[in-house]
Amino acid sequence: MKKPEKPTSGARVLRTKIKKKSGLKESSRRWLERHMNDPYVQRSKADGYRSRAAYKLTEIDDKHKLLKPGMKIIDLGAAPGGWCQVAVARVKSTAEAPRVVGIDYLEMDAVPGAVILTMDFLDDEAPAKLAEALGGPPDFVMSDMAAPTTGHRRTDHLRTMHLCEVAVDFAISVLKPGGHFLTKTFQGGTENELLGQLKRHFRTVQHVKPPASRDESVELYLLAKHFKGRQPGIEDADVEPETDREQDGE
Ligand SMILES: C[S@@+](CC[C@H](N)C(=O)[O-])C[C@H]1O[C@@H](n2cnc3c(N)ncnc32)[C@H](O)[C@@H]1O
Repeated sequence: MKKPEKPTSGARVLRTKIKKKSGLKESSRRWLERHMNDPYVQRSKADGYRSRAAYKLTEIDDKHKLLKPGMKIIDLGAAPGGWCQVAVARVKSTAEAPRVVGIDYLEMDAVPGAVILTMDFLDDEAPAKLAEALGGPPDFVMSDMAAPTTGHRRTDHLRTMHLCEVAVDFAISVLKPGGHFLTKTFQGGTENELLGQLKRHFRTVQHVKPPASRDESVELYLLAKHFKGRQPGIEDADVEPETDREQDGE
């Protein structure tokens, strides 16, 4: 999938501007202006996607070929549903035999072909509910979970990294051997311990930054492919951490 083109010099670009006297806080005014002029946002409306995030998964999948018809998928932090829409289409999930289960504590509109659980993934009951809704082990666990921002960068960072760590433990406990795992993380935020844990359980581990993830954002994704299966006797502390690193979108 091609990245929507950025305006080149000489081209006449119609930008939506929001007046400084709009009554919005300056940071909110700037965010809204950037959002309204974002080519991915404009394209998501035309393509019928719930979010511009849909293109992040599309671009990652176009490159890494993760989603195949017939696969079972778990989507952590699914609202408003862009990743679910992409997954449903690519694994050919149907309302009669759904193969995609999403979870979010925020209410979201139904995605035909997906089962949506409205609950906190950190709830002790969430793993069992997800397994029950999917009716078998997943081939792919993907997490775009992000903690709500508090304005305190370090706190936001730590909260999202905690979600990432819980998602890793969950993926390792439920995935089918050979399955894949994708999670949102932050540049500089992935602890060696977490990378080491993934490396022990997956054949390849790499960082990916799809073109749809804004350059100025510290957001990054971790992609772990080919789950080795649950192996009794391998303790997480036994092996030195090591990882491959790859940046997408260059
Ligand atoms: C960036 S959005 C996901 C966008 C989504 N991938 C899409 O394509 O539309 C992050 C989501 O993670 C959810 N989230 C954060 N913490 C969560 C938790 N503990 N349990 C469930 N969902 C959570 C938020 O409510 C939010 O909807």
